[in-house]
Amino acid sequence: THFETVIHGGTVVTAGESFKGDIGISDGRIAAVADTLAGGDRRIDAGGRLVLPGGIEAHCHIAQESSSGVMTADDYYSGSVSAAFGGNSTFVPFAAQHRGQSIASVIETYDGRAAPNSVLDYSYHLIISDPTAEVLAELPGVFARGITSFKVFMTYDLMNIGDAGMLDILTIAKAHGALTMVHAENNEMVKWMNRRLAAAGLTAPKYHAPSRPELAEEEAINRAISLAKLVDAALFIVHVSTRGGAEIVRREKLAGAKLFAETCPQYLALTRAALDRPGMEGAKYICSPPLRDTATQDVLWSHIRAGTFESVSSDHAPYRADATGKFLNGADAAYPKIANGMPGIAMRLPYLFSEGVLKGRITLADFVRLSSTNAARVFGLDRKGAIAPGFDADIAIWNPQESRRVTQPMQHDNMDYTPFEGMEITGWPETVMNHGRIVVDKGELRAKPGSGRFIARKPVDTGAMPGHRAVEFDVVAGYGQEIAP
Ligand code: URP
Ligand code: ZN
Ligand code: ZN
Ligand code: ZN
Repeated sequence: THFETVIHGGTVVTAGESFKGDIGISDGRIAAVADTLAGGDRRIDAGGRLVLPGGIEAHCHIAQESSSGVMTADDYYSGSVSAAFGGNSTFVPFAAQHRGQSIASVIETYDGRAAPNSVLDYSYHLIISDPTAEVLAELPGVFARGITSFKVFMTYDLMNIGDAGMLDILTIAKAHGALTMVHAENNEMVKWMNRRLAAAGLTAPKYHAPSRPELAEEEAINRAISLAKLVDAALFIVHVSTRGGAEIVRREKLAGAKLFAETCPQYLALTRAALDRPGMEGAKYICSPPLRDTATQDVLWSHIRAGTFESVSSDHAPYRADATGKFLNGADAAYPKIANGMPGIAMRLPYLFSEGVLKGRITLADFVRLSSTNAARVFGLDRKGAIAPGFDADIAIWNPQESRRVTQPMQHDNMDYTPFEGMEITGWPETVMNHGRIVVDKGELRAKPGSGRFIARKPVDTGAMPGHRAVEFDVVAGYGQEIAP
């Protein structure tokens, strides 16, 4: 066979095994995996390196307006470049519907933002904030286009769709094999806490943390799972940040709920103490759910190790610490007027590798699952997330020994800060390929804007998962009937 590229002499790691071997690539796909492969128009020496499935970033906000109209600093060019420098081959940002918009117009807008600019393969999760009858009627067409997941919010006044709205969406998702992702925080608890804090004049960034209590997340996770169970739909809980939330997820999974979940590096790396830095510095660390405490960090790591989470995602939500982002509403705005989110798409995998694999918290196989393989399976990227013949040549070659101190320019994003500044991280991606193209090599960007492709995703196969549908849901068949034991 003729190979365009052969990656030679590295340690290949997949979710299942690890071996020394060569990878032959042709037409953007992995064509052969063997002890040694001859030939190749281009040969990449991976001696002393780890050869991993390229990361799949399944939670990031790119070229997206927040509900209050703040645009992220990263577009599909800078966002995909930063993702690639962080070891990712593919990313799945959100296409966000704001109230009053048709889904067709939203998808068209994001296609226009992504197609000319992305250096990585991409897809979208559709955010639905306005589930009117017309909007719900558009969803089957969205699934047919290969957008097979969406996100709904239980919080933020302009985004949250209420329990009945969630049931409508979960029901349609189940019928079409789509997966519903949920941002779970109790909106009324948050609003009530905001009122209480405002009445006491407590509006500095540090009050963001108590305004969004752990119980707000726990209650909403529990409610979201109950809603999904009523209609036997699958559910993905994003950015779990609390002990209580993780425990509910674990218990419900063990009890057979059709449930997936993720956590994010910021909840492992930082605590709410960062919100209390001098002046308005704390604004950089405002994200929702908020940063928690050190005890929670340990608990989340133990849940990562135990398999509670399918993936660790960045939740990259880049708003600069200037008047275009965090301080759009003034240099000393009250915390509820500061955009929520922090950047981290380039740090997700180095952080997880350095603090997880090298510190013995997770295995290398866990790292591959959490960074790539599980996201591919859960979100229907059927040719990605593994190193085996037939899969896309989405590959990241890592130097597991290189140590670097984190700086903002290393992120290659459009931001003016990184929450990971100054951390000493060992293990960095050196060469990142997407569909056989070299995107990043030894610190150099090698891909052109628009070289990434939209990937139509498969329906999410939860048919084999155990399920639960409340008897009351079957109004016609079940109402007034004896219920079988
Ligand atoms: O604070 C965050 N995470 N902002 C991004 C939007 C979201 O809720 O995921
Ligand atoms: Zn040739
Ligand atoms: Zn969220
Ligand atoms: Zn998010």
